Amino acid sequence: MMKSPLIAFVFTVCITVGGLEAAARQKTIARRVDSVLKLMTLDEKIGQLNQYSGREEVTGPESDKSDLVQEIKAGKVGSMLNVRGAVHTRRVQELALQSRLKIPLIFGQDVIHGYKVTFPIPLAEVASWDLPAIEQGARVAAIEAAASGLHWTFAPMVDLSRDPRWGRVMEGAGEDTYLGSLVAKARVQGFQGKGIGNTDAVMACVKHFAAYGAATGGRDYNSVDMSDRTLWEWYLPPFKAAADAGAATFMNSFNDLNGIPATGNAYLQRDILKGKWKFTGFVVSDWGSVGEMVNHGYVRDKYDAAASAIRAGSDMDMESRSYITNLSKLVIEGKVPMTLIDDAVRRILCKKFELGLFDDPFRFSNTQRETELVGNIQHRAMAKDMAKKSIVLLKNEDGLLPLSKNTKTIAVIGPLVKSEEDMLGFWNVGWPDNSDVVSQWEGLQNKLGKNTKLLYAKGCEVKDTSRAGFAEAVAAAQSADVVIVSVGEFRDMSGEAKSRADIHLPGVQEELIKVLHATGKPLVVLVNAGRPLVFNYTADNVAAIVYTWWLGSEAGNAIADVLFGDYNPSGKLPMTFPRTEGQIPIYYNYLNTGRPAPDDDKPAGYRSGYIDLQKSPRYAFGYGLSYTSFTYSDLQLSKNAMYSKDSVVVTFKLTNTGKVAGEEVVQLYLRDEVASLVRPMKELKDFAKLSLQPGESKTVRFVINKEKLSFYNQQLQWVAEPGHFSLMIGSASNDIKLKSRFELKLSAVKQRK
Ligand code: GLC
Repeated sequence: MMKSPLIAFVFTVCITVGGLEAAARQKTIARRVDSVLKLMTLDEKIGQLNQYSGREEVTGPESDKSDLVQEIKAGKVGSMLNVRGAVHTRRVQELALQSRLKIPLIFGQDVIHGYKVTFPIPLAEVASWDLPAIEQGARVAAIEAAASGLHWTFAPMVDLSRDPRWGRVMEGAGEDTYLGSLVAKARVQGFQGKGIGNTDAVMACVKHFAAYGAATGGRDYNSVDMSDRTLWEWYLPPFKAAADAGAATFMNSFNDLNGIPATGNAYLQRDILKGKWKFTGFVVSDWGSVGEMVNHGYVRDKYDAAASAIRAGSDMDMESRSYITNLSKLVIEGKVPMTLIDDAVRRILCKKFELGLFDDPFRFSNTQRETELVGNIQHRAMAKDMAKKSIVLLKNEDGLLPLSKNTKTIAVIGPLVKSEEDMLGFWNVGWPDNSDVVSQWEGLQNKLGKNTKLLYAKGCEVKDTSRAGFAEAVAAAQSADVVIVSVGEFRDMSGEAKSRADIHLPGVQEELIKVLHATGKPLVVLVNAGRPLVFNYTADNVAAIVYTWWLGSEAGNAIADVLFGDYNPSGKLPMTFPRTEGQIPIYYNYLNTGRPAPDDDKPAGYRSGYIDLQKSPRYAFGYGLSYTSFTYSDLQLSKNAMYSKDSVVVTFKLTNTGKVAGEEVVQLYLRDEVASLVRPMKELKDFAKLSLQPGESKTVRFVINKEKLSFYNQQLQWVAEPGHFSLMIGSASNDIKLKSRFELKLSAVKQRK
């Protein structure tokens, strides 16, 4: 809040001037766009709506090989993806400048969690609950991508993900809409920085619009069927947050939504995105999704697919060649009005002007900036910092962790101990030339030097069933004081087209853990994966378990910092971990039903649980341990009843009662006890991450306003209904420390009637 009137005045003037400048810039750009549009033939317009992939790296089903060079020179291509590097982008841009109107290309790439310096996979980053750090990760990715000739990243992926069988959970923000919306905003801000047009910023691309994360059965590309209310309450808010953060582009999704493919879905792209939300950027289809509407059985052929997609608001056709082949005919035959073509072209040209490409098509293709910025030491330090914060300590019996740096001998066992590529996770850019990855083995060597003897044994493979390596592993364990086992998924076992029906630890890795556990040696298990996995034997029997996801370029160093106490783990799970696939879908903000499932220690009876498995997940949303301990006390509410224009201020004290400094993510959950629609047992409505020294206390303050009490009612109105709300403060969704209750009253005026 501005205290001094003068500061408030200056602030207002700056905002106004800034706003006027932006408006003036947009007006100039609009004028320049129209001047180009007037010169364009129909074919040249359609060329701008056409996007091809480079041939060196392909991120989708290979489409027919046209003569890319000729088509670019002929102005038949508006954008290329999977073309990167200052030299390579310059060379391809030079081809585009040989076209009649010399309209520059936009270069896009999946820079999802880093370009050369790779950050933890997005789902891991969210486990840090550290929004500034998440934004910084996107910022570094943008700086390196933009220095490599790229204008555009196909990120952030903001699909709410409640099904760990779906491999793409690794690239999102997990199962919670509130957290996912804040992360979406942070990532857009990180990618776009001070605004597109700056040569350290790239256009964000919010994907996949929409509801792709609800694919039936967790099977990628599969159908999605949900009520409008569910769509609006759970799946759309992260997209809206990203749009409100100024995202330059959107990407639609492969799935149909209630029978209409997203690519041909005017309700999504025209009514909601470009209509209600007033989105002025452009929409790119996902790879081939325009043409795939034929497979959906939604259109007869690519001619109809092109018509359906352009009418529905898909501006650019990635790799299906439906637009370049059919749009001209559709316009000439009067099936598609020129106004739709012009609108799509305007949106795309507007971004090219905003990027400054008409003034200097090569401004991002700068080898000097590329050399200076890509992969630099500062970026690696940030990647290591994020990696440490992303690690989740799932179990630590008898304080086995942190390990002592004076441990004489440590056996380091498992198929991922020495892996570098797997640390980069799915969607990394450019392995193997992006090979400066610190493996877990190297991280331990860096940490321990000659102090400790490290014994290595692979033990087994990730996927196959051979147990031939067990004996060597057991022998190493028996010669050691402590055993560290690193297991999990290969980097390509989660990600696009990586849905798994069985999400147990793959292969015989858990059998390896069993035989090592049988040696009686202190055992620490590291689980490297892109999704929640199932590992019940390990969870029940092993003393220490650390979820290390895929942590990127600095994985080994970050893990070593945590294992030896140089960083106290603070991560909290952004997704629920099921005990088995049979529990899926399972998420924390469930509805109670008329016969609530009994708590774990009670029989199912006539209740909504299973007769063969308890109700609780293996690990809950928001769960994560620390090397220290915290107490929560002195909960106070500023009032026990509020009117809709009011707010309730919630305060409580958090104390570090342990012996080491640590960070805690405190979580505020609310339950609307009675409403016109049944409401979840709890919903995350705020959180804070605090760092406390041993013995230190801090007061935490949350403000509850009407927005935090609102939901979409049956008429899809965003309302807060009067009644009582349960308030819960927790260290995890299943670990509530403080409770209270307050009432939302009808507004005083209404009550007087
Ligand atoms: C892929 C993905 C999408 C990605 C695009 C370009 O099929 O679904 O997320 O951005 O194609 O690689």
